[in-house]
Amino acid sequence: MTQRPRMLMCPPTYFEVSYVINPWMARHVDGVHRSRAQAQWDALHALLSARAEVRLIEPAPGLPDMPFTANAGVVLGDTFVPSRFRHAQRKGEEPLFERWFAQQGYTIQALPEGLDFEGAGDALLDRGQSLLWMGYGHRSDAACADILGTMLDIEVIPLRLSDARFYHLDTCFCPLQNGALLYHPAAFDDASRALIEERVPAHRRLAVGADDAAAFACNAVDVNDAVILNRASDALRDGLRGLGYDVIETPLGEFMKSGGSAKCLTLRLDEPR
Ligand code: ARG
Repeated sequence: MTQRPRMLMCPPTYFEVSYVINPWMARHVDGVHRSRAQAQWDALHALLSARAEVRLIEPAPGLPDMPFTANAGVVLGDTFVPSRFRHAQRKGEEPLFERWFAQQGYTIQALPEGLDFEGAGDALLDRGQSLLWMGYGHRSDAACADILGTMLDIEVIPLRLSDARFYHLDTCFCPLQNGALLYHPAAFDDASRALIEERVPAHRRLAVGADDAAAFACNAVDVNDAVILNRASDALRDGLRGLGYDVIETPLGEFMKSGGSAKCLTLRLDEPR
């Protein structure tokens, strides 16, 4: 029997937009509809719980972005590299996530002081080859790429993010099972786009257009044969189905006010070497 995928979520008890650290948040300070956010999170949690073992970390007051567990750090095998948030508003999450992973028995490997790194928001394992894709330019420092490569003993390809709306790699890039890839080409500089296109063959790449990208279609969770996301156009749904995925849409508009969606609200805990 194959093991169920495992992931970490954090209930949105204290979720709100109370500061602005990305362009999506600008128009939404104090604008989150609390009960709708809870209902949207519950629906995502239910969809994932039907397909995976979902663990929860306790939310903390004063840390409104803690439900975005993708940013806790990066997991590979039994190693956890904790994030070092760029913005002071999120730094309080660091010790809470670190303690949770230590309690679960992960080996904690800290990055050197002075570097910013926002975890699985900016570091995504390819699902077809042994490779870590790392986004930089907004939240994570490019210098983390070499360091992570050594710490985790894996090839790391740094990708420069060039559009402030797509400030984390997981907002514009999503490796899928068997080595397929969803990505929004315009979110990368030319050299980085060329790197992606060199490493992932054309028939495995699904380029996501501006409208889908703005609806956070790249911020998808792939679990078993399903791709769970906020919304996909007919064309994108057909493209994903053509690659053999089941597409499940679940509205996450309240979290988009904060610049996040399905994938940001989860962190995969089982990442085999
Ligand atoms: N408001 C949060 C921030 O700007 C959203 C984080 C979204 N997370 C992600 N993995 N893209 O930090």
